[in-house]
Amino acid sequence: MSVRVIEHQDLQQYHTFGLRAEASYFAEVHSQAELSEVLKLPHQRLILGGGSNLFFTRNYPGLIIRNAIGGIQVIAESQEHVIVEAGGGVVWHELVQWTIQHNYGGLENLSLIPGTVGAAPIQNIGAYGVEFDTVFYQLEGIELETGIKRTFTRTDCDFGYRDSIFKRDLKGKYIVTSVQIRLTLDNHPLSLNYGDIRNVLLERGIAEPGIRDVSEAVIEIRSSKLPDPSVIGNAGSFFKNPIVTRSFYEGMLADYPDMPSYAAGEERCKIPAAWLIERAGWKGYRIGDAGVYPKHALVLVNYGHATGSQMYHLAQAIQQSILDIFGIPLESEVNMI
Ligand code: EPU
Repeated sequence: MSVRVIEHQDLQQYHTFGLRAEASYFAEVHSQAELSEVLKLPHQRLILGGGSNLFFTRNYPGLIIRNAIGGIQVIAESQEHVIVEAGGGVVWHELVQWTIQHNYGGLENLSLIPGTVGAAPIQNIGAYGVEFDTVFYQLEGIELETGIKRTFTRTDCDFGYRDSIFKRDLKGKYIVTSVQIRLTLDNHPLSLNYGDIRNVLLERGIAEPGIRDVSEAVIEIRSSKLPDPSVIGNAGSFFKNPIVTRSFYEGMLADYPDMPSYAAGEERCKIPAAWLIERAGWKGYRIGDAGVYPKHALVLVNYGHATGSQMYHLAQAIQQSILDIFGIPLESEVNMI
């Protein structure tokens, strides 16, 4: 076998939470051929990308396959659009930067999201008013059990809010080897309505922004609110923003008139989990090295030596308290291993 399989690999550097855990076996694959080789091994398997949306509560008793399949290329072009294909192991923000350098529009609001291209469709990443599925064209995946290649269209992926078929019926069954996205070539429609984007552009004196300006504004906002995983261990938002019916929300307003919300369809709305967690008193809370980030209540952080089980207990305590106070269940956004 040409792929190196390492035994007892420490996983701390392979996931952004930086929790102590090890994998019985670990292999990094750079091509489909290398992937086919490791898929012949008999062990239980877990696919890892940038490790930015999971945390380990225990050692992993099987083989972790790190997807490092690279490559970015244009595969089709029309008058208005371009289809770009990127390997599943490409670092997401490197793809964003590449598209901006080439003046292809569509990913600018998704700047600086940690993780890899292969993970983007799995949880349908999103930020600042744009969700990944809006640029998605199709992807190629390999079924771990059989090694058979399959193309998934947008319909096949069945995207939802931080959700897709790969988190449900096909959970753990496929590795995403490449993703194709459809971007604009010119006259890029910009999404500037979320949060502080317009304010940051104004502060910078930019009246007619281009995609690079939007990307830079998003980078500024993200860096000011969210902890850099290379400095403080974290996995971005730990919980999803709960979606409730409009009438439930209106009922809540009687007790909490300042509770914010965003429309999620006609009858439902999203309540920021960060607001609920902050209001419940958790923002800045710390027990040992596990804590709630002082600048953003939706981000759980590892200040250094927290264990997965401490992190898990903190998350559970937060969930229970939000349920007790507001009657709202919080769902984890991060995958627990
Ligand atoms: N808020 C608080 N306290 C805080 C932080 C925020 O009350 O400490 C309230 C404010 O009302 C604020 C609202 O929450 O307006 C929303 O906050 P923010 O704009 O930071 O976004 P979010 O809903 O907490 C979501 C995504 C993020 C994404 C941002 C920006 C989810 C689970 N998270 O967070 O995605 O970057 O919007 O678009 O939907 C991720 O998924 O890992 C992630 C970081």
